[in-house]
Amino acid sequence: MNILSTVLLAVLMSLTNGVDKSEANKEDEIYRPQYHFTPLVNWMNDPNGLVYYDGEYHLFYQHNPNGKEWGYMHWGHAVSKDLVHWEHMPIAIFPDENSTDKERCTAFSGSAIVDEHNLLGKQSGDNKTLVAFYTSQHCGQRIAYSIDKGRTWEKYEGNPIIPYDATDDARDPKVFWHEPTQKWIMVLYRKLNANDNSKGVSIYTSSNLVDWEWKSYMPGFYECPDLVEFTVSNRPNEKVWAMFDGDGSYLLGDFDGESFKPTSGKIKSDWGKNYYATQTWSNIPKEDGRIIQIAWMRGGNYPEMSFNGQMTFPSELTVTKLPSGYKLIRRPISEIELLYDKHQSWENKNIIPGIKQNKVKNVSGDCIFLSGEFDLKTCDNFGFMVRHSIKNPGTEILYNVKRGVLTVLGSTVPLLPIDNKIKLEILIDRTSIEIYANEGQAVVSNCFTPDAKAEEMELFTNGGELEIVKLDVYKLKSIWD
Ligand code: FRU
Repeated sequence: MNILSTVLLAVLMSLTNGVDKSEANKEDEIYRPQYHFTPLVNWMNDPNGLVYYDGEYHLFYQHNPNGKEWGYMHWGHAVSKDLVHWEHMPIAIFPDENSTDKERCTAFSGSAIVDEHNLLGKQSGDNKTLVAFYTSQHCGQRIAYSIDKGRTWEKYEGNPIIPYDATDDARDPKVFWHEPTQKWIMVLYRKLNANDNSKGVSIYTSSNLVDWEWKSYMPGFYECPDLVEFTVSNRPNEKVWAMFDGDGSYLLGDFDGESFKPTSGKIKSDWGKNYYATQTWSNIPKEDGRIIQIAWMRGGNYPEMSFNGQMTFPSELTVTKLPSGYKLIRRPISEIELLYDKHQSWENKNIIPGIKQNKVKNVSGDCIFLSGEFDLKTCDNFGFMVRHSIKNPGTEILYNVKRGVLTVLGSTVPLLPIDNKIKLEILIDRTSIEIYANEGQAVVSNCFTPDAKAEEMELFTNGGELEIVKLDVYKLKSIWD
């Protein structure tokens, strides 16, 4: 690198990040998540361009480098070797046509792939070209590419690849390879005409990544679509496709390379208030084979912080055939284990209602992973108070046996016991609570802004006895350490 580019990179880094990486772990950043991805400074929304290449997971994101509110969208960038620890990188994609407008020609959401066969013709040397598809707001669907493993990005000279149409509101291209038809597929949020009732997903195909042919349309979708093939985990010969909407809800069905035929109604994926703009990683190596999704926790609050926005903890998606039909299962990725710190566990412990019954009285902290199986025995309800203190009751997580619902932070999740037991995996960070119930059959993702000084936890039962079949509680390490 010559002196000029070193200086330019340094200027870029300071524009992008503004603060030193270690800032992210400071005690005074009381609402800085410690193991959920956040930008170092300023606004962040949707995850973009999720792609794995050469040992690195790339996470791009909608980013306003000018302030803590939405607008002036760029693609921020971070890389990780384990999906847990992230390294902040300079901004990857800037607005087009040197736009300084809040919206026009800014870099809206999209996806990225590895150009395995050098279709774009940009590869020089051994590194494959990374190709990002993004919406240049009001300026068409566009391509940016990187020949240096995502470190620097150029705009494709033939942009836009799909021209702007003032009536269709098209955005958020998600591109993937379809082996049976040997074609690239793009799913794009788009209205079919000026009528708002025609919101949906358009499906395009391409042989060369730059010429795209419209093939079909699926109504009833809004923003950030994704289309993913699953091998049914308990029927290895069966395949099912899922078409995801921006809020993570999905249709199951078949995809023949040109059109999607649903076999289910729309199914909710997350029962919380802060799960949006979902996307799955592309190019995950075959030997891994996981489908990994992340979402923007839309609507979080980070009082007096230098940043505004956080991602969910990544989750692994699978489809299982249950007696009731195919079901999408979502679990926190197993890499959460990399963050395990102090561990406490309990087994076969009965709890009765009342004071002095709190088995988890020695658990305290603001970053905790809890995995438990509870036999409902004779209780009416049971639950946890988290971020609790003598002065502040904290936030309640409650399972109501008669109603068959789990409630937390104003969200209600239908949840039936299996063999009279409920399993819960609870991820608590400084500003979020994610609960995966019954091994990922129901998930609820919410943000919260707890009392900074309340760090204790209570486990309670009401109306009768509850058995802790097994409970593991881990303090989690900060990813910014
Ligand atoms: C979803 C979304 C996308 C758009 C982006 C703009 O949150 O509205 O449809 O591309 O955000 O930031």
